[in-house]
Amino acid sequence: MKTRTGYSGLQILLHWATAVLVVFNWFYSDGMGRALRAHLGDAASSRPPSMNPDIHVWTGVVVLGLVLLRLALRAVQGTPRAVSDGWVGRAAVWGHRLLYVLLLATPLLGIAAWFGGVKALGDPHELAADALLWVAGAHAIVALWHHHVLHDRVLLRMVRPE
Ligand code: HEM
Ligand code: HEM
Repeated sequence: MKTRTGYSGLQILLHWATAVLVVFNWFYSDGMGRALRAHLGDAASSRPPSMNPDIHVWTGVVVLGLVLLRLALRAVQGTPRAVSDGWVGRAAVWGHRLLYVLLLATPLLGIAAWFGGVKALGDPHELAADALLWVAGAHAIVALWHHHVLHDRVLLRMVRPE
């Protein structure tokens, strides 16, 4: 993979668009369990949910598209090297890999449940979404720690294209 000094403008745009849509979809999910049962023709859940499931479904599909675009762009344009050496740098690399795994697994499990009709994958989808939010939350705290405590350029490189 190519190493560069920072992220490109498009990589930065995709990072923040993904972050906003993931957080939005996590909060706009209450009622999806009932929506899934109704969608799969479960007669016992005739009461419609008080939300529009299409918004959750299509926002999630867009997230998957943006993540695939990000991974393709990453392969072509490369990414900057971790700022720290040793285990701290390796933790950053593995933390980002874990984020990508959860960013792919969450919408794919949702798609398998909704479009594939595999109801049993609804719970793993919810678990993956919760894990994604926790890991992303920790990731955001680390980014803010770099900026406000360590006073390095880590946060700025996800703001200013280089
Ligand atoms: C990255 C994007 C996504 C996030 C963060 C997310 C988050 C969530 C969360 C937190 C729940 C639990 C809701 C509850 O409290 O009942 C949920 C449920 C659900 N989501 Fe997603 N979701 C995403 C993408 C998708 C996609 C792409 C689809 C389908 C195409 C989908 C379909 C569903 C379904 C069917 C449920 C109900 C599962 C069940 O209760 O068995 N989601 N989602
Ligand atoms: C749901 C929310 C978020 C997700 C899913 C997410 C995901 C990611 C991923 C996968 C990367 C690795 C990029 C790459 O090298 O290809 C990354 C980098 C980065 N993120 Fe996030 N992020 C989120 C929210 C945030 C927030 C809220 C902040 C700031 C407070 C932030 C700051 C950063 C920074 C500074 C980098 C670059 C780190 C470096 O250059 O080593 N992220 N993010």
